[in-house]
Amino acid sequence: MLSDKRILLIITGGIAAYKSLDLIRRLQERGAKVRAVLTNGGSQFITPLAVGALTGDTVFTELFDREAEHDVGHIRLSREADLVVVAPATANIMAKMAHGLADDLASCVLLANDKPVLVAPAMNSKMWSHPATQRNVAQLKADGLHFVGPNAGEMAEKGEAGYGRMSEPLEIVVAIEDLLSPKDLPLKGKRIVITAGPTHEPIDPVRYIANRSSGKQGYAIAEAAAEAGAQVTLVSGPTILADPKGVETIRVESANAMLAAVECALPADIAIMAAAVADWRVAHDSNQKIKKDGSGLPPALNLVENPDILKTVGHLQDKRPKLVVGFAAETNDLIANARGKLERKGADMIVANDVSPENNVMGGDNNTVRLVTHGGVEDWPKMGKDEVARQLVQKIAELS
Ligand code: CTP
Repeated sequence: MLSDKRILLIITGGIAAYKSLDLIRRLQERGAKVRAVLTNGGSQFITPLAVGALTGDTVFTELFDREAEHDVGHIRLSREADLVVVAPATANIMAKMAHGLADDLASCVLLANDKPVLVAPAMNSKMWSHPATQRNVAQLKADGLHFVGPNAGEMAEKGEAGYGRMSEPLEIVVAIEDLLSPKDLPLKGKRIVITAGPTHEPIDPVRYIANRSSGKQGYAIAEAAAEAGAQVTLVSGPTILADPKGVETIRVESANAMLAAVECALPADIAIMAAAVADWRVAHDSNQKIKKDGSGLPPALNLVENPDILKTVGHLQDKRPKLVVGFAAETNDLIANARGKLERKGADMIVANDVSPENNVMGGDNNTVRLVTHGGVEDWPKMGKDEVARQLVQKIAELS
């Protein structure tokens, strides 16, 4: 976490500037205080008003600002920060930094700076691979600046692809945490994909098959894993819960959509499949509301089996995460059923829990779990779901 860390975010002119708005929120979620400098180029893509509304502070744009410069604003800005982040960083700002130019507020701040700097480049792939840019990057690295990205992918320019996309906000957050939180978080550097909640399988536009899962346990695990330093993607079925802090949350409805989102989130180091995925869906859901036909007979719903997400992930050839964890919600023969699932689904650990109604697990705040691995069974006492999540994350860190 970044409690009370002060980040000076310099936003320069690239289409990826819109992601910087999300970055501000992600940093604040983790307790950081963010101040922003927006260059002229940056303000072609996002407005000072949007940035200021998020930071809750003045957005610094001008070098010769009468208000800010009476106390040498461009010096003060970096003095009052723990880290300077340039995101997006254009080829132009990197060239200026590499050569010590200072012709606007952003470049002056960077030249007057005495704090660590993290650069998140964003540009067309040809600009990135150009020898001039690569020389500047090498120079900046030699000067001790830190880099995150760029990633490969499609460019804003239609049909172009390659290295140059700015890292996603959560990747930048992880890089910031690496620089600012020296304590060794147990899941630092790990990518985790987690499923949670129920799935809804449509019958017609107004009806669906669902189950009683609230998603609480999976969400608690996602938050605990993010707190432990992991980069977490949570694929969630429909729930009323807010997105967990510091977690990339993808909302889906059906089992098929959940599987597709999980596959998109791979590769990952760890998979934790906590969702209560519906075992069956209606073979052909109707695109019109099904009406009573007057015969008194109910409609015949032809059910087909859904894909098993845990089993699919557990048996992947190339992309199988090193650690695959499943859940077994049972009402009887808990350990035998959990062992069966461990084998059948190719998991490394099954978190088994008795969901008989008297235990009030589904939707409740407590859980009594038993960890089933190939090595044996570990019984845990009844705990709050948040505490189960924290201890589970600890256990997973030991195993991964
Ligand atoms: N699971 C899954 N995809 C499915 C069904 C289950 O990923 N289509 C995962 C769950 O997320 C959980 C584990 O498999 O981690 C066990 O889920 P559970 O519902 O207990 O098992 P099922 O395979 O559905 O077995 P059964 O309902 O027959 O007990």
